Formats: sequence, structure tokens, C-alpha cells
Amino acid sequence: MEVIKDKYGRGFRTLRVSLLQQCNLGCVYCVAGEEDGKQASAGKEGLLEASDLLAIIRRLHGQLQLENIRLTGGEPLLYPGLAGLISGIRAAGIPAIRLTTNGFLLGRQAVQLKAAGLEALNVSLDAVDEDVFFRISRRHSAKRVIEGIDAAVQAGLNVKLNAVVMKGVNDSQIMPLLDFAFSRGLRIRFLEVMAMGHLHNQAGQYLVSQEEILETIGRHHRLEPLPRALSATARYWKTEAGHVFGIIANESEPFCRDCDRLRLDSSGNIYGCLSSNQPIRLSLQEAEEEWNGKLERALLQKQALRFTGSELSMLRIGG
Ligand code: 5AD
Repeated sequence: MEVIKDKYGRGFRTLRVSLLQQCNLGCVYCVAGEEDGKQASAGKEGLLEASDLLAIIRRLHGQLQLENIRLTGGEPLLYPGLAGLISGIRAAGIPAIRLTTNGFLLGRQAVQLKAAGLEALNVSLDAVDEDVFFRISRRHSAKRVIEGIDAAVQAGLNVKLNAVVMKGVNDSQIMPLLDFAFSRGLRIRFLEVMAMGHLHNQAGQYLVSQEEILETIGRHHRLEPLPRALSATARYWKTEAGHVFGIIANESEPFCRDCDRLRLDSSGNIYGCLSSNQPIRLSLQEAEEEWNGKLERALLQKQALRFTGSELSMLRIGG
């Protein structure tokens, strides 16, 4: 098939797959209070069989020659056949297989995931202080997540950290998180909170901007900005000691212009953009023409300039 591109020259080179809609943490930027049970869940109806999910991924890769795939959720480590899926994706020939996790089950799974062909992980860590961790994730599991991070590094996985910063919730943790990452030699990225899910209309009150994050870190370090890589979500800075950290500034400095991501959810819907609430249902039965038309529709969902918010939470669509 001809490579599809929009008028900005954007196509799909990266696939993000949300494997399931359950999570074992209840982070306040993702899960609304009333949704939070023992396991946050956005439902299981219409979930694909693992073999169908893999078949869709293979077909997409055959057409798009994907450069990398990122598995997300919900929490992907809760997905029963995860290692098998990773080996299947590897056999399909997608060069880089990555995963985003909250790290809660990482201690148990790191070695197996590496053996299956996983290359890199982003672990969400929004606080190192146990009380603040509880405030943002509704679980007392900072210690456990940190053990998971150490296990992943030990297993030879390339680990990056993600920290969503929320005003009045965990903004006290910027320096402790930075120090933690630097002490482990890990790359951390601070994320501006996005207007998704139940925060759709109220993310503003929690926003700690890129400028504010830089101001906080700049009080402790001399910072040199690094050039942004094409289609990257983060910008990076280097400290006087050579440590690098990043900021994903979805609000202050949107990165839509060269976005190359396609999203697939656990029911077989694709989305061209996080801003879009319009799922496009793929079916393995459909002929090439129909299937391609759907990819083109997904590409049209991309925003020209900025993220405009979404009623879907990351629990559903994945980070
Ligand atoms: N704003 C910013 N980041 C979010 N994440 C989930 N929901 C939001 C939000 N509303 C992050 C997670 C994880 C990644 C998947 O996305 O913390 O790091």
C-alpha cells in the first residue's frame, strides 16, 4: 500500500496499544474518585482475543512498516498473555517493543518480559515519598514500584521514568524525583497534566507548567536545553553535572506538528489522536480498501496544533 500522509506530512510510524482497561492503582489524574474500587476498570465488553489483537498488529505493521510499538493500558502488566504477545510482536518484525507501566507488578515480571523481547519501559513514578504517592495514586506502593524499577534495570531493560506533576498534590516531589532518577542514572520526564477523562474541564487548576518545573529545577541546577528529536513528546535539558531530564509539555508546548502515533485500544478501535473521542472500529474481515479508508480517517483526526482535551481517560486509551 502507498504510505499515507496528511497535509503536514504526518503518517503513522508508532503504534500504541492499550491492552486492557483495568488498573491496579487509582491515580487521581486518570481515575475519578467514584470509579475507584480495588481495581479501577472501564469495563471488559468487546475485548479482543489475544490472537486477534496480534493479527491486527501484524496487519497494521505490514501496511505501515511501524518503527516501534508501545504497549499500554490500563495497566499492561495485568494482561494475562503479555509475554506471549511480546514474542508474537517480535516475530512480526516490529523493530522496537516498549511498554508503559505503573511498575506495581514489575518486580515479578521484569526478567520474563526482557526474555520475551521487550526492549524498554516507561515507569510512572509520581512521588518517592510514600504519603504523597498515596495522595496521587490512592495506594501506598512507592517502595514497591521502586523495587520494580530496580528489578527492570537489573534485568537489562532500558528504563525511563514518567512523573505527572499536579499542583497541590505532588508538586513537592519534583526535586526528590529528580534526585532519585539522577542517583539511579535514569532519565526522568515530568509531564504537564492533560485535560483527559474526568479532568476534561478542570485540568487547569492542577497544571504545573513547563516554565514552573524549570524554575524549580533551575534553583538547584544550571540547565542547558538539548535539541528536540523529531516526533518526540519530551524536550530534554542537561545539568552542569551532565544529568539529563525531560518535560512533556502537552499544554505549554504541544507536539502535534510531527506526531506519528496511531492508537489501538483493547476492543480493536483505532484513534489518530488523543484529542479524538471518535473510535474507528477495525475488523480483520474487511477488505484492504475499507481498512485503508479507516486509517486515512484516523489520520484526519490529528490536530493541527494542539491537544484540545478528551473525555476519554488514559485508563481507556492508554498513554
Ligand atoms: N495527564 C498527564 N499524564 C497522564 N497520564 C495518565 N493520565 C494523564 C493525564 N491526565 C500518564 C501516566 C503515564 C502515562 C501513560 O500517561 O502517568 O505516565
